[in-house]
Amino acid sequence: MSIINAPRGTRDILPGESWKWSYIIRTASEAMNDFGFSEIHLPIFEHTELFSRGVGETTDIVEKEMYTFNDQGGRSITLRPEATAGVMRAAIENNLCVQGASAKLWNWGPMFRHERPQKGRYRQFYQIDAECLGIPNAAADVEVIALSIEIFRRLGLKNLEVVINSVGCEKCRPIYREKLLKYFEAHKNNLCETCLNRLERNPLRILDCKKEACGLIAEGAPDIYDSLCDECREHFAEVRAGLERLGFAYKLNKRLVRGLDYYTKTAYEILSGDLGAQNAVAGGGRYDNLSSAIGGGKIPGVGFACGLDRIMLVMEEQGCSFGKAPEVLVYSVTLDDSSRPAVQILTHELRKNNIAAACDTSGRSFKAQMKSASACKFACIIGPDELAGNSASIKNLQDGSQVLVALKDIPDYIKNLSRICHA
Ligand code: HAM
Repeated sequence: MSIINAPRGTRDILPGESWKWSYIIRTASEAMNDFGFSEIHLPIFEHTELFSRGVGETTDIVEKEMYTFNDQGGRSITLRPEATAGVMRAAIENNLCVQGASAKLWNWGPMFRHERPQKGRYRQFYQIDAECLGIPNAAADVEVIALSIEIFRRLGLKNLEVVINSVGCEKCRPIYREKLLKYFEAHKNNLCETCLNRLERNPLRILDCKKEACGLIAEGAPDIYDSLCDECREHFAEVRAGLERLGFAYKLNKRLVRGLDYYTKTAYEILSGDLGAQNAVAGGGRYDNLSSAIGGGKIPGVGFACGLDRIMLVMEEQGCSFGKAPEVLVYSVTLDDSSRPAVQILTHELRKNNIAAACDTSGRSFKAQMKSASACKFACIIGPDELAGNSASIKNLQDGSQVLVALKDIPDYIKNLSRICHA
C-alpha cells in the first residue's frame, strides 16, 4: 500500500523544531502579559458567515482561499483563515465590551488558507494574534504597533521595516474608491486579469498588485491622503506622532491596503528582508466597523497578527538564539539486569525532586545506555557492587569524574552539583 503524506501546504513540526516554537510562543506570551493582554482560546472552525461578512466578500481569502464545508447538520463551516473575526465574535457573544469596556486579548494557533504554497506560505500556518477592543483612540494603535515591535525585539529579529498607511473610513473611503475607479478605468487595457476583476469589486486592492505593469499604473493613482476626512487625517497624524515619540522608525506606504476588508484608518505591516516574496512577518491595523458587520454594536478595534512560521524562518536565517534546548539532566544506567528495578526507582525519586531524569526501558546493553546518557550532564550507574551498598556511581559526563553516593542522598547531591554547574 502507498504511504499517506501530509496534505500539500501543511507540515509536521518535529522535535528538533518544536522546542524553538515553544520559545517563540513563550517570549510572545511574556510580552503580551507585560502589555496587559490576556490569553484567550477560540474555536478553530466558525460559521462561514463570520468570515464572509467580517473579512469581506470581495477579498481573496473569502473568494477563493477558505476551507469551507457543510457539517453533518448541513451548516456551512469554515476553518478559520485568521483570528480577528473570531476574537470580535467572542467579545460580542461574551459581553466583553459592554458599556464602553475595553478588552485586550491575545491568542495563537493554526489558521487555514488555500493559497499556493511557497517559502513562508503554507495552507496551515500559525499566527500569534493580539487585539485591543473598545478603544477608538490613536494611542491604542500605537500601543499595538509597539507590542508587535517589542515581541520581535525580544526575539532578536533584525533588519525589520515597519510600514504604515491610513485606508480611511466609511465616510471618506467611498470618495477615494470613486477616484480610483475612474483612474484605473482609464488604464484598464494594461491591468492584469486579476486587477480587471478587482476593478468594480474592490479597486483599492489594485494598489498592492505585485505585477510590474499594474504596479507602474498604481504609482500614478490618486493619493489616499488627499481623500482622507478630517477625523482620519487627525487619527493618522496622532499615530505617527505616537510612534515618533517612542522612537520607532517607520515608512509610509500609501499603497498598503492589506488583504482584509475590515480595516479602517490605520493599516500596517512589519517586513523582513530575509524572507523573499512572502516578506511580512506581521500585519494589522484598525477595524472599527468589524463589530457591526458581524451583528455586534459599535466596538472599535485594533490589532495585529504575526506569522509564527515566518518568524521561525527569519530567526534561523539570522542565527537568533532560541534559549536553551530542553535536556534530561541525569540518565541512570544499569550494569546488569539485576539492577534494573533499582535504576527505575532512582529515576522516579529524582523526578519527584523535580530533576529531569530518564533511564532505559527497552533492556539495552550498558554501552547503548551510556550512549543515551552522553546527551545528559550526569550518569548514575548501578551494578551489583553499587546495589549491594545501596548506592550509585555518579559520573560527571563533562569532566569524566566519578563518585559513589548513597541512593537516598542522590537527589540532593545532583541538585547541589547542578547549582554549582549553573553558577
Ligand atoms: P494577515 O496579513 O493576513 O493579517 O496575516 C498576518 C500574518 O500572518 C502575515 O503577516 C504573515 O506573517 C502570516 N501569514 C499569513 N498568511 C500566511 C500563510 N499562508 N503562511 C504563513 N504565514 C502566513 C491577518 O490575518 C489579520 N487578522 C491581522 C490582524 C489582527 N489585523 C488586525 N488584527
